[in-house]
Amino acid sequence: METTTTSPKPLPIVKGHWLFKNALEIKAGMIEFVQKYSKSYGDIFFVNTLKEEMVIINHPDYAKHIFQDNNKNYIKSFAYQVLRLFLGNGLLTSEGDFWLRQRRLAQPAFHRERLQKLTESMIESTDKFVDKMNENAKNGAEFNMAHELNGLTLDIVSKALFSSDISESMEKVRTSMDIANDFAFKKIFEIVPKPMWVPTTLHQEFKKANSNLEGIINKVVESRRKNPGQYHDLLAMLMETKDEDTGETMNDRQLRDEAMTIFLAGHETTAVALSWFYYVMTTRRDIEEKIRKEVSEVCGDSPVAVQHLPQLKYTRMVIDELLRLFPPAWIIGRKALTDDVIGGYRITKDSNVLVLPFQIHRLPEFWENPNEFIPERFTPEKVKEMHKFAYFPFGGGPRQCIGNNFALMEMQVIIASTLRNFSFERTTTEDPEMEQLVTLRMKNGIKMKAVANA
Ligand code: HEM
Repeated sequence: METTTTSPKPLPIVKGHWLFKNALEIKAGMIEFVQKYSKSYGDIFFVNTLKEEMVIINHPDYAKHIFQDNNKNYIKSFAYQVLRLFLGNGLLTSEGDFWLRQRRLAQPAFHRERLQKLTESMIESTDKFVDKMNENAKNGAEFNMAHELNGLTLDIVSKALFSSDISESMEKVRTSMDIANDFAFKKIFEIVPKPMWVPTTLHQEFKKANSNLEGIINKVVESRRKNPGQYHDLLAMLMETKDEDTGETMNDRQLRDEAMTIFLAGHETTAVALSWFYYVMTTRRDIEEKIRKEVSEVCGDSPVAVQHLPQLKYTRMVIDELLRLFPPAWIIGRKALTDDVIGGYRITKDSNVLVLPFQIHRLPEFWENPNEFIPERFTPEKVKEMHKFAYFPFGGGPRQCIGNNFALMEMQVIIASTLRNFSFERTTTEDPEMEQLVTLRMKNGIKMKAVANA
């Protein structure tokens, strides 16, 4: 990649409306906007939304530059400031030395061997979901799959973090989490930003939901401090872990922020990906059948268990392809700390740069028939040959998702356990629409019914 510092070129600027610049077109759909203008402006260009000026990055080499090679120059962008109101200074939103220390402390809790212990509770929650779907199948009931999956992944992450300590508060957690989530994307896309002291309904509802969640987490932490050593969940691991140099453990504030971060980051993305999965299966019964065959060969009549997961290789390829076409984190933002040069173009200090995995995952230069769902792209041999930043649903470089293996195991468990029992049919004919929010949600979810396998 060309990174010469001598006379960098100015970025191409997308011409927009004389008054609204590019704001209206971007509001109508960022993905469509980037697809349209990358044809004439290439793989890096400048846009103006009135609220922010932004550089759009549309090439794997440039993504590698930002997330990996020169990552120290790129901090998290304005959207993360909003998340900070809710997640505090947790792993997703913190920066610099503080982030690095927290990441080192949290990393062991996400090691594969540790995660294997958590899969038992993943399987338990999924079994309850399968029982519910069985009832639905018997009654021919219609349900919103996106909503059901959100409940399931929230249940899984709650148990992974807190064992059964918050089971009595689950309904309150779910409602508060929904409110906080809704608040986050409304604030990020607010055209005229209002400070938090303005008593709008949105702000007040958020503050109440946030304080409910804090209350629940604080109570668990307090009771664990009084009776240490009884649990083997993520919270216990975060409480036990010590800084190698200082021997310090996390204080209550840090535990709250990390728990809240894992709570949010650990369920919304996975639920969104799975909603798209069950939709894709309604259009690709051939793939569904292959998954079913693999599950039957690997698991036989026994329940899906942790030792089966590495053998569910085709299922894993389907998940990889799903995250290529429907990456829940479809857009990732950064801000440049100092002037930089990317691909020979000048990036000035404080520029916001936006990288769209959604778009890069579909570049025809890197993907043959990019819009087709072809799991065989992800055989281990082909993965070795791939440009590391042509496919990065979990981000890349030091800030890569800490929960990637957790999510992949969870999706395998849920897909294998459901498809061996049911097929899911859509009860409406309209195709689901993408909603380009913080995650790539399905607008209004997807109405389905479960049909038990013969
Ligand atoms: C399909 C599911 C998931 C997807 C697509 C996903 C995607 C991502 C991406 C793209 C990032 C990087 C954001 C950036 O660079 O600004 C990230 C960070 C993060 N994710 Fe995930 N994630 C998923 C599941 C999970 C799960 C299950 C957990 C926890 C149990 C989790 C916890 C986190 C945390 C804590 C970070 C911040 C890491 C750091 O900066 O050190 N994620 N995720």
